Amino acid sequence: MAMTEPVLTRRIPTAPWGKAKDRKLITYKKYVKSGGYETLEKALAMDPGKIVEMVRDSQLRGRGGAGFPCGVKWGFLPEIDGGRRYLAVNCDEAEPGTFKDRILCDFDPHLILEGIAITCWACQLDTAFFFIRGEYHHQAKTVQAAIDEAYKAGIFGGKGLMKGACDLKVECYLHRGAGAYVCGEETGLLEAVEGKRGWPRVKPPFPAVSGLFGRPTIVNNVETLACVGPIVEKGADWFKTMGKASDGKGPPSFGPKLMGVSGHVNRPGLYEVDLGIPLSTLVEEHCGGMRGGKGFKGAIAGGVSMGILGPDQFDAEMDFDIGRYDVMGLGTACPTIFDEDTDMVAVARNIARFFKNESCGQCTPCREGAQWIYKLLCRIEAGEGTSKDLDLLLEIAGSMGIMPGTTICGLADGNNWAVRTIVNKYRSEFEARVRPASVPVTVSAT
Ligand SMILES: Cc1cc2nc3c(=O)[nH]c(=O)nc-3n(C[C@H](O)[C@H](O)[C@H](O)COP(=O)(O)O)c2cc1C
Ligand code: SF4
Repeated sequence: MAMTEPVLTRRIPTAPWGKAKDRKLITYKKYVKSGGYETLEKALAMDPGKIVEMVRDSQLRGRGGAGFPCGVKWGFLPEIDGGRRYLAVNCDEAEPGTFKDRILCDFDPHLILEGIAITCWACQLDTAFFFIRGEYHHQAKTVQAAIDEAYKAGIFGGKGLMKGACDLKVECYLHRGAGAYVCGEETGLLEAVEGKRGWPRVKPPFPAVSGLFGRPTIVNNVETLACVGPIVEKGADWFKTMGKASDGKGPPSFGPKLMGVSGHVNRPGLYEVDLGIPLSTLVEEHCGGMRGGKGFKGAIAGGVSMGILGPDQFDAEMDFDIGRYDVMGLGTACPTIFDEDTDMVAVARNIARFFKNESCGQCTPCREGAQWIYKLLCRIEAGEGTSKDLDLLLEIAGSMGIMPGTTICGLADGNNWAVRTIVNKYRSEFEARVRPASVPVTVSAT
């Protein structure tokens, strides 16, 4: 199942899980020497519509968390009307345990920039805003230096992409976030780029129709954009030789995937593998097994918002159909592994703390529910909860999110799935911490 030839990390001289000092930044010069920007040249000789078709045929699914088919999203753009059209590059990467986009920025920023340039040509977008997580100081410098190199090489600005090889002039700006997780949500990101508070917008309208400054905007994750060049270079069929066909419920999970593994394994790090790899193979063959030979207790599926894979789900296949293991989805595909000694009540409390801090406060169920869940979990962890608190936790969690239809964005769904799956899959551990409810418990929201 593991890939023989890396696609996204192929230019990073030492495998990305090697020592940091062995890894070197791929500058513009090195990138071009290894064939970089040749695909942009190829793309500029193609009809833009053909590129959209190629990406649609590859069935590339977004790598930012939702797994939406990229070519389909591009197809939602309205007809060109002479006005501005934008690309918002999502490098917010604030999902706990996720660090795949950071590695790409650190070592191969031109792979992303080439993807940006090809996407702008394919979708006829004139401005790209590269939104980068506020805490990524080093990466912001690296990406800015790469953007400067690309301007110098005539890829951005000037007469047109690639020194006037086409008539589309593209500007690319780096926009640094201010440290809010919710700005990774696509419409929160748009607000932030517009200079406003990062408050997600009600959808529809979707960004492709009305995004930045009310104009058509494509929002794509950094890793998604990094896949665009290789697809145009080698073709949609080649992309489909990697990954996994669908189980019949949704689109397939084709292509390579960056999986950042953290937690109780011997070699935590970033691994490029085929989508669909069993979690146990990722841990045993790539990460050197469980740390200290301990038993596997569970794993956050791919960012805490996706929920948890339980002790009997070590062989779960890491593809976009992962919902069959009762988690929300694949998310960022960056699992955090827990060994047998992990206190799952503490894990749930820690995750709840994150969500209550990151709720933007617009929707009552998320703002109040997140606080409430956190308080209940603190109480249970301290041994002061009752058995009724567990049911109350599940009730509050289950009533917040886009899916129950009570909030604007998916941050609340993340909280919902994380808490519900941990309580459900480790219920006995929670029950051991609470006392029987002899009297009804009343918890006030105030
Ligand atoms: C609370 C929240 C945080 C998110 N954070 C990120 C993020 O950091 N990076 C990202 O690419 N997508 C993030 N997303 C998903 C984006 O809303 C959007 O689906 C994605 O950027 C689209 O790009 P893609 O189709 O290439 O995956 C987040 C979503 C939610 C609800
Ligand atoms: S769900 Fe939470 S984070 Fe999202 S808009 Fe509502 S309050 Fe803000």
